[in-house]
Amino acid sequence: MLSNDVMKLIHKFISFLKQILIWCNYMFLLPLSGTPQSLVNSLRNYCNLSLAEKLHKRFPDGEQYIRITSDMRNKIIIVVQSLYPEQDSKLVELYLALEALEGLNLTDVELVIPYMAYSRQDKRFLAGEPMSVKAVYMPLRLFNLRKILALDLHSPKIPEVIGLAIQNILPHTYMVKKVGIEVDFILAPDKGALHRARILAENIGKPFDYLEKYRDRITGEINVSIRELDVKNLRIAIVDDIVSTGGTLAKAAQILYDLGASKVYAVVTHALISEKTIQTLSASGLDMLITTNSILHPEALPKWIQVTDVGELLCSELKSL
Ligand code: R5P
Repeated sequence: MLSNDVMKLIHKFISFLKQILIWCNYMFLLPLSGTPQSLVNSLRNYCNLSLAEKLHKRFPDGEQYIRITSDMRNKIIIVVQSLYPEQDSKLVELYLALEALEGLNLTDVELVIPYMAYSRQDKRFLAGEPMSVKAVYMPLRLFNLRKILALDLHSPKIPEVIGLAIQNILPHTYMVKKVGIEVDFILAPDKGALHRARILAENIGKPFDYLEKYRDRITGEINVSIRELDVKNLRIAIVDDIVSTGGTLAKAAQILYDLGASKVYAVVTHALISEKTIQTLSASGLDMLITTNSILHPEALPKWIQVTDVGELLCSELKSL
């Protein structure tokens, strides 16, 4: 067994070597079409990465074609692909790119997935259903990926389900600090989000709890029940991974206002929102929705929706790996 000091020295040496590779222009970023341009720009700036060139087109029958046109021999490449929207075509593009890289004699391939589609179906809720996350991501095991980094996986169990090591980055503390809101209490809208609430609460030194949520798996209807919560005159941050219809957040916000909360903020990593979601959240009276640029958003969002750039956060994780 190597002692801690020797391990530390080895880690220092590896990160020193990585720095040299960056300085020698050996690290490249390959952004695929699901990655928002704002995220590509900040990853390049913060990590000082060159851009790998590619050709990406569709054949007349709809099939995709990709060709990496930069010379990638002996280089390290970081592929970044957000899988929304269209989830299916972004997945195919990712797999085509990873297979193309296999033939290019690279030193290393690392993968960043800011938004991982199909991750909510991580178990069989009803008989006859697939574990979608397993079906969709198990093929990643075919590729020689040195690291996979994901932003706020729906469940920390996903790496185990897929059978791959994935570094899961939770951005809520970063988001709260970036936007600069003051909060007194952290709340998870259901038990599954409790780990997010706990980490944010520990990082900013505030109490936390969770609500009980029940979703009817047939109709999709959501019920959120009140547990004993004293939130009178408090500023609450609800933390979650995804907002989609807005049903979960709207119900939670209504309960909290009824209990006398003075402000309710939602700190949610991936906002897969439509016009209808915006209406639902606006009607709930939510003070602010803070989200990230893990996916592309429409340019004109209401002022109460704040999008934080997570390029710096992802980059610091990439450097530390
Ligand atoms: C569910 O377990 C997720 O963490 C989110 O709470 C859910 O996806 C939110 O969906 P919606 O906005 O449709 O209620």
